[in-house]
Amino acid sequence: MSGSAAQGVSTPAKLSVIPQHVAIIMDGNGRWAQQRGLPRLAGHRAGTENVRRILRACVEYGVKILTLYAFSTENWSRPREEVEGLLALLSQVIDRELDELRRNGVQLRHLGTLEGLPDNLQRRIREAIAATAAGDRIIVNVALNYGGRREIVEAVQRMMKDGLTADQVTEQALASYLYTAGLPDPDLIIRTAGEMRLSNFLIWQAAYAEFYSTPTYWPDFGPEELYQALVAYGQRVRKFGGLPPSGASQSQ
Ligand code: IPE
Ligand code: IPE
Ligand code: MG
Repeated sequence: MSGSAAQGVSTPAKLSVIPQHVAIIMDGNGRWAQQRGLPRLAGHRAGTENVRRILRACVEYGVKILTLYAFSTENWSRPREEVEGLLALLSQVIDRELDELRRNGVQLRHLGTLEGLPDNLQRRIREAIAATAAGDRIIVNVALNYGGRREIVEAVQRMMKDGLTADQVTEQALASYLYTAGLPDPDLIIRTAGEMRLSNFLIWQAAYAEFYSTPTYWPDFGPEELYQALVAYGQRVRKFGGLPPSGASQSQ
């Protein structure tokens, strides 16, 4: 991720504002494969390979937190063969990449529930989190077996188990019970493959995120397009319900 990692990445110096937290809905693996007459799993494999490129570029650009939507609680409804293949692939990726992730200062975290995942994948996730806990260059949250509604329900259940009173249930308290506790909300959410929906991704945390959608399928979404997304982000006027900061155009 150092030196040669910058290859093919436009100079970050041109970016005026770098979002601290970028979240990506990595969609379109199936269509990417279909377009090439390949099985869907070949698309998922190409998708996992793309994660490397985008992670390197994020480090290069100075993004501090990257959240990747890898498998949703709704994705269990796909054919068993695809689900099993995809989960096996994710397990292999952790195995293959762990040393490099650790060497490059990546701190891996998991958003979602381990319950229901194959035992070997659960074990690998736990090991990877422990092995990269000291990483201080970038936090990479992998949303795997993740659902935004489930996250909120689990948070409420744990608040009740902890005996919080109604008055203690504040926005801040609830946020501290989410999988993302302690992390800032995403500034920018990117979705590949053209869809204009969140698909149950970070539904609480996305309240004021900027949204960027591109028709490009995830395996083809390279550093150059990430750069375009960051440029677009830099042109947005974030108002959080207030008025635009002085200097920004009144029409925005
Ligand atoms: C995204 O690609 C990966 C997962 C949802 C696991 P898809 O598999 O959803 O690809 P499309 O949307 O069918 O093209
Ligand atoms: C969202 O993509 C989930 C992931 C990228 C992991 P989907 O392909 O599952 O979303 P829908 O079904 O098009 O909404
Ligand atoms: Mg999809």
